[in-house]
Amino acid sequence: MSTDLDRSAVRPEQGAPDLELSHVTVRFGGLVALSDASLSVRPRTVHGVIGPNGAGKTTLFNVACGFVVPDEGTLRRRGEELGRLRPHQLAGHGIARTLQGLGLFDRVTVLENVVTGADRHARTGFLGAMLALPGSWREERALRERAMAALDSLGIAHVAGLYPASLPYPVRKRVALARALVAEPELLLLDEPASGLSADEMEELGDLVAGLTDRMSVLLVEHHMDLVMRICDEITVLDFGRVIAHGSPDEVRHDPAVLAAYLGEEV
Ligand SMILES: Nc1ncnc2c1ncn2[C@@H]1O[C@H](COP(=O)(O)OP(=O)(O)O)[C@@H](O)[C@H]1O
Ligand SMILES: [Mg+2]
Repeated sequence: MSTDLDRSAVRPEQGAPDLELSHVTVRFGGLVALSDASLSVRPRTVHGVIGPNGAGKTTLFNVACGFVVPDEGTLRRRGEELGRLRPHQLAGHGIARTLQGLGLFDRVTVLENVVTGADRHARTGFLGAMLALPGSWREERALRERAMAALDSLGIAHVAGLYPASLPYPVRKRVALARALVAEPELLLLDEPASGLSADEMEELGDLVAGLTDRMSVLLVEHHMDLVMRICDEITVLDFGRVIAHGSPDEVRHDPAVLAAYLGEEV
């Protein structure tokens, strides 16, 4: 029989970061895109990564989702080293991401696009459901219900039966987000989610992302300083591939190195 004391003794890595990059260096030929960069995404927080153009933000994002293998440094999830992470393994680690290019399928409906994001929970998977393998119909129905719920939570349930190409860009962005959320990730990676959005749309997106922290942590790579300042719990600032500052929005906002890096930048 186990007591509370026993349980707390074996509780694995409680409070360990959802994602930890340690001393990560990435070189492209002679160019050092990331140099000895470290950051920790703490559970149920939004961690922002900002920096001027060319600072290494996208490279860092690509390391976090396994697109780029670092030349040096390690990646840990809840204290456990991930080794050579591949993009298709993300879901298995409870990680979801959205991409700058959205990556939606134009020939299937919004709902079907979102269902394809849910395969972490599906045993037979989307393909199995489509082929109506025995036992998969129940699963397919459950998947569709979850996909509808994800669309509904982002206020776009009414476009479920439409095709992505017919939708305005900000709505397509929400579809892409719904597809990431339907897998019920513990860590969501967002690369420049505010690009191409109006000020109002950006504000709405900010509220949505901030509202996710009751369920997951978010790594937000974003150029828009005001959005990052508003919704992030912690911010890491990159410049020329190096971490030049880290802290709360207030700490980062007043950091002389950050102000210098952004001097002359449109933010
Ligand atoms: N695949 C690549 N090959 C060569 N250089 C690259 C590649 N990706 C990025 N870089 C370079 O690495 C640096 C960091 O780029 P990036 O991570 O895209 O910065 P950011 O997203 O902050 O604008 C830049 O100098 C960029 O030109
Ligand atoms: Mg970039």
